[in-house]
Amino acid sequence: MAVRKDQYRWKSERRDAADRNNPATLMARAASNYACQECGAASNRWMGRCESCGAWNSLVEETTSAGPPKGLGRGSGHRIKLVSLAGTTDEAAHVPTGISEFDRVCGGGLVPGSALLIGGDPGIGKSTLLLQATAALASNGVTCAYVTGEEAIAQVRLRANRLGLLDAPLYLAAATSVRDIVATLDIVDSPQVVVIDSIQTMFVDSLDSAPGTVAQVRSSAQELIRIAKNRGLTVILVGHVTKDGQIAGPRVLEHMVDTVLYFEGERGHQFRILRTVKNRFGPTDEIGVFDMTDHGLREVPNPSALFLGDRDASISGTSVFAGIEGTRPLLVEIQALTAPTALGTARRAVIGWDAGRLAMVLAVLETRCGLSLAGQDVFLNIAGGLKIREPAADLAVAAALISSITNVSVPMRTAVFGEIGLSGEIRPVGQSDIRIKEASKLGFHRVIAPKGNAAASPETSLTEIARLEDLLALLADRGNSRITSVS
Ligand code: TYD
Ligand code: MG
Repeated sequence: MAVRKDQYRWKSERRDAADRNNPATLMARAASNYACQECGAASNRWMGRCESCGAWNSLVEETTSAGPPKGLGRGSGHRIKLVSLAGTTDEAAHVPTGISEFDRVCGGGLVPGSALLIGGDPGIGKSTLLLQATAALASNGVTCAYVTGEEAIAQVRLRANRLGLLDAPLYLAAATSVRDIVATLDIVDSPQVVVIDSIQTMFVDSLDSAPGTVAQVRSSAQELIRIAKNRGLTVILVGHVTKDGQIAGPRVLEHMVDTVLYFEGERGHQFRILRTVKNRFGPTDEIGVFDMTDHGLREVPNPSALFLGDRDASISGTSVFAGIEGTRPLLVEIQALTAPTALGTARRAVIGWDAGRLAMVLAVLETRCGLSLAGQDVFLNIAGGLKIREPAADLAVAAALISSITNVSVPMRTAVFGEIGLSGEIRPVGQSDIRIKEASKLGFHRVIAPKGNAAASPETSLTEIARLEDLLALLADRGNSRITSVS
């Protein structure tokens, strides 16, 4: 009996060993490789949740080359040239497109030999923007090509017609094979600027996986960026975004390119904001503002005026925040509404700001200023579809909330900025001078700001406050005086 067991084990071991050495089994094992479409992590089995980034249902089977990873093997390489840091290289020369809001976010224009990635929701206007930008460049004598993998040539022509750009000497192509595109670009007088719309439709024929998968997106981008660096071209890649607003495909795509821009905007609003997320040749957090019209995107050189729109300052529950986006000051209206809750749990809904920060401001108002908000639904909205990320908006949000609760409007032509600390103190924020200057430029007579922040300008008086209670007192005073003047 014992002998038979041994024999059995021996047989199975022998079978395993045979399996391990069989190239066909090796192929089969290596071929079943799964890649997370969010972060690019690889796994040898399918899982419902990526172990690396925690995304659900993001693993997709991809066929990769079989066999163990290859080392350098035999053969010697060429020696690379080591140069001294102190050599001379010209500054990255930016080529302006002529669309100044686009140039602003790129740090002055497009840089030859660089790759730019532009992401955004479907239908937000990426193709329109790039068609307009390349047509403007082409009219200035730069050879540009627009390669579309999503639309037919006729569709692009129709759009160009609508935008009034049919006369621009722009080259068009409908292609999805990276090999063909690279072959077209790898010539001496290739176009200087190439748009690839979109990287998710491109494929490298040496890979078996479908276009849009991590492996394809990564390889296609790699090939296109390589040709951009070799030939000194500017490659602009359009990237789709996932449900939570990230550029689809691995994060690695963002590392590969020199500049990453996001095109965003609220549906139902005509304003579109182009935002720099990464830029190797200029500042980040810069924004460009556009207006989507019947004839394409129109630049908005003075966005503060646009975001303030035709606001009625006498209505309670609104305040004007003097903000900064990148290097640009921006005045925006903040709207708040509080209403008694009909349900057991009060609702807090925020559009354009961080829900966590709203919860903090509400808690500070409740604890430090004695305002009761427990039974109140709170709604907060940043007018115009803008998304604000600065903590400096705290004080303006608090002003709008206090104004809504007390039903007393914030004084006319008053802008507000400042960060709120948990103990109710108002903290200074950066670039106050620029904020105040923009406010006075737009006719604001008064700015409520943190203490010790900046000097007032001749046209604008500065009300400095140290604690959140001071803001409450300021608005309450106003309420009293209004009541006495009415009676
Ligand atoms: P598009 O550039 O195709 O978006 P994306 O490439 O980001 O998917 O933009 C399409 C939207 O823009 C579509 O909803 C129609 C609108 N649009 C205008 O309002 N005016 C115009 O002149 C153009 C060309 C498009
Ligand atoms: Mg498009």
